[in-house]
Amino acid sequence: MRPVSRRTALTMGGLGLATTVIGGTGLWRELTTPGAPGDPGGELVEPEVLASGGGRLDVQLQARVDTHEVAGRSATTMGYNGGVPGPTLRLRPGDLLRIELDNQLDHVTNLHVHGLHVTPEGDGDNVFVEVEPGASRQYEYQLPKDHPPGVYWYHPHHHGSVADQLFAGLYGAIVVEEDDPPAVDRERVLVVSDITLSQDGSVVGPSMPERMMGREGELLLLDGQVEPVLTARGGDRERWRVVNACSSRFVSLRLSGEGSSARVVGRDVGRLPTPVALEEIVLAPGNRMDVLVDLAEGRTELVAVPVDRGQMMGGMMGGAVGPEDSERVLASLDVRGGGGPSAGEAGDGGAGAAPGPDGLLADLRDAQVDRRRQLTMEMSMGGGMMGGGGRGPGGMMDLTIDGRSFDPDRVDQRVRLGTVEEWTIGNVGPMDHPFHLHVWPMQVLDVDGQAPEEVLWLDVVNVPAGGSVTVRVRFADFGGRTVYHCHILDHEDLGMMGTIEAE
Ligand code: C2O
Ligand code: CU
Ligand code: CU
Repeated sequence: MRPVSRRTALTMGGLGLATTVIGGTGLWRELTTPGAPGDPGGELVEPEVLASGGGRLDVQLQARVDTHEVAGRSATTMGYNGGVPGPTLRLRPGDLLRIELDNQLDHVTNLHVHGLHVTPEGDGDNVFVEVEPGASRQYEYQLPKDHPPGVYWYHPHHHGSVADQLFAGLYGAIVVEEDDPPAVDRERVLVVSDITLSQDGSVVGPSMPERMMGREGELLLLDGQVEPVLTARGGDRERWRVVNACSSRFVSLRLSGEGSSARVVGRDVGRLPTPVALEEIVLAPGNRMDVLVDLAEGRTELVAVPVDRGQMMGGMMGGAVGPEDSERVLASLDVRGGGGPSAGEAGDGGAGAAPGPDGLLADLRDAQVDRRRQLTMEMSMGGGMMGGGGRGPGGMMDLTIDGRSFDPDRVDQRVRLGTVEEWTIGNVGPMDHPFHLHVWPMQVLDVDGQAPEEVLWLDVVNVPAGGSVTVRVRFADFGGRTVYHCHILDHEDLGMMGTIEAE
């Protein structure tokens, strides 16, 4: 069992709980087999790349427990094909992606391709299926020919254990390429995640307050490594595909040091009409960004800046459980030789030019709205703090959307294919909730009354504590049933998820 941190201890004191709040259980202590690299301060090793050819990509992903070097010690984590992260899948619009998921875990799992615009039915991106331990399942995803380029990712989606399985190492990146990529000297896939390890290298689960808050790991990882080094050449332009694969942690990145500069040219789906400074972007759990970096000689650090995402029932709990509040070094850049930054001459390499606004990402600001809906995300005291009255484990709090906990057999929203809807998503409570809709991207119209200056498409949009967000969605195609939920995955597992059926 993990030593009780001061933060947790305070909360426990406030609650007067003596036992059962610390989660580190035997769940994680499983097999050990030889694994992959990842020592602190070592050269960044990116995940293996599996790229499509001739319009298809056929892969097998084995979910299993492996032993790796993490932060200088041997860690026993879950992973796909023995890697944390799993392999990067590179696709083109129109491709057929086939994944055979082989479940070598002791727990039920399944697979979700986050952000891909594909069918949620049958063998497609169906999050309702369960793959039993020892079983395997063949998934098939047919990407439309006009699928937006961007950085996507895959992870398990079995309700109740999504956060546990992600936190233990199950995630990987998906890149959908564009026809006219900007000219760069190097492209990297950078998956940010966090994890907590015990002395013996097993993954530590959260305490109940941490679960309510959304667990944040003690170690911050980049491609599964602690503070790796990125070696590069001065004057080079790099393209970074960044995924926030943390279960609950919000991430904002900046480059310290002089000379080098970075701007974001894409978020979640498609490209931004105009690049945005790196510092301005906050990645909620599940968000991605596509970044162009102009490197100047010298030593630079890639720093994760703390993000305030609210506190959990500060007053009531007698000692708030909050997110990490200090800066962390995610990686260091060792840039040598070459010239100065090339940004001046090279312009934005074409990456700032958004593709023609038609098809799936056509601007909906002036569209005719067929229907408006109001959704409310709520975190409230359930049937009592101490007794099992509430629906969440421990009966402490209810995490709901429209007052209801997730029920896979209920349909919460019925939408008509071919229509445009406007959803206003409210957040009643003291913590942010990043709202994620499967299959159909959302155009953000306003966040707390503030409209983005330009067309902004996301598949995870943060709904600030006590605030609201308005989005529009074109339910152009793909009938079937899928889900929307809070992407603080502990919240999703505790019930903050609903179902949507399009027909
Ligand atoms: Cu990234 Cu429903 O998930
Ligand atoms: Cu998703
Ligand atoms: Cu939430």
